[in-house]
Amino acid sequence: MAGKGWKCWWMMIEIRVPTRDRAEPVAAIGGVAIHGETILAPMAGFSDLPFRRICRRMGSAVSVTPCVLDEGLVRGTGRSQERVDFEPSERPVAIQIIGKEEERLLDAARAALAREPDFIDVNMGCPARRVSSRGRGAALLREPEHAAGLMAALVAALPIPVTAKIRLGWDAESLNYLEMARRLEGAGAAAITVHGRTKDQGYGGVADWDAIRRVREAVAVPVIANGDVRTVADVAAIQEATGCRLVMIGRSAIGNPWIFAGRDAADVPPAERAAMMREHLAAMRAYYGERTGLVLFRKHAVRYVQYLPGVAAWRRALGRAEAVDEVHALIDRLESTPEDPPGARRA
Ligand SMILES: Cc1cc2nc3c(=O)[nH]c(=O)nc-3n(C[C@H](O)[C@H](O)[C@H](O)COP(=O)(O)O)c2cc1C
Repeated sequence: MAGKGWKCWWMMIEIRVPTRDRAEPVAAIGGVAIHGETILAPMAGFSDLPFRRICRRMGSAVSVTPCVLDEGLVRGTGRSQERVDFEPSERPVAIQIIGKEEERLLDAARAALAREPDFIDVNMGCPARRVSSRGRGAALLREPEHAAGLMAALVAALPIPVTAKIRLGWDAESLNYLEMARRLEGAGAAAITVHGRTKDQGYGGVADWDAIRRVREAVAVPVIANGDVRTVADVAAIQEATGCRLVMIGRSAIGNPWIFAGRDAADVPPAERAAMMREHLAAMRAYYGERTGLVLFRKHAVRYVQYLPGVAAWRRALGRAEAVDEVHALIDRLESTPEDPPGARRA
């Protein structure tokens, strides 16, 4: 999936056009062509602009910004602005919003429109207590009619497609994913992402791919399958199990953006891994500034080393590194002697 590059020598700008984007689209969401099967999941604290940029270049077909609370977006707080920040190379882009009251959600969506996203995605699956205890996120699963009403209001008011991301239900006793999906489609949702867990499961247990298949069979709009895709083989497996062409990948993409290029992290040679880490660190420093960039990069760094021998020692060293030079020295070491973790005794 490598892109083709043209160098405009007079401007010293390299334009990279992913080969994928020139191929036939694999799906359309509300008329927007989607040129790829795998999509980086929105993940607050991880799927920021620098990481999305990398994943998009690797082959993630859509960028979805991490959830932002409607009130934050309306007030225009710095944190909210950062969360919805994206760059043109990421298109198509969905800005994901979270809320429960129609008017406020509409105000937030209109505020998001100022950034000209390609879609608005409504989060109906966030299990975090501070969100769901206030009727937002996964709490909307308990009120399918209200959720559909919010969707209908957004669809009527916005000039771009609106999508939703749901879970299977609040808990095992209240699985209502088919009702949710049908109602959301009836209200005009252009696509539905289904994370195959209940709110109660959080991120534990096993994602139910059968349930995702049932949603796919119940609605005509694209269904994006999500949950427990860890390897390239899993992408094909979830497609086979659900019949969904579009697959969203969350946790297993952290430290492993190659998954969007059809490669497993375990197969990536040390030099390539090191180059990606250097690029990621540089992007974080440029975007957030020196200190914050370093601190936030460390969360990714400890995941880039997950397949190395002596992973615990690598994690410890990278997770505690206080200076950019220290991180660079560890990356250099990882490139030259990946089998020799820091702090390990030499024979
Ligand atoms: C740290 C973290 C942050 C997340 N933030 C969001 C979010 O902002 N919006 C959202 O819809 N889902 C969020 N999720 C859920 C993921 O998008 C995804 O649905 C979930 O992790 C299951 O996919 P996976 O098994 O591939 O990780 C988050 C998950 C994690 C682990």
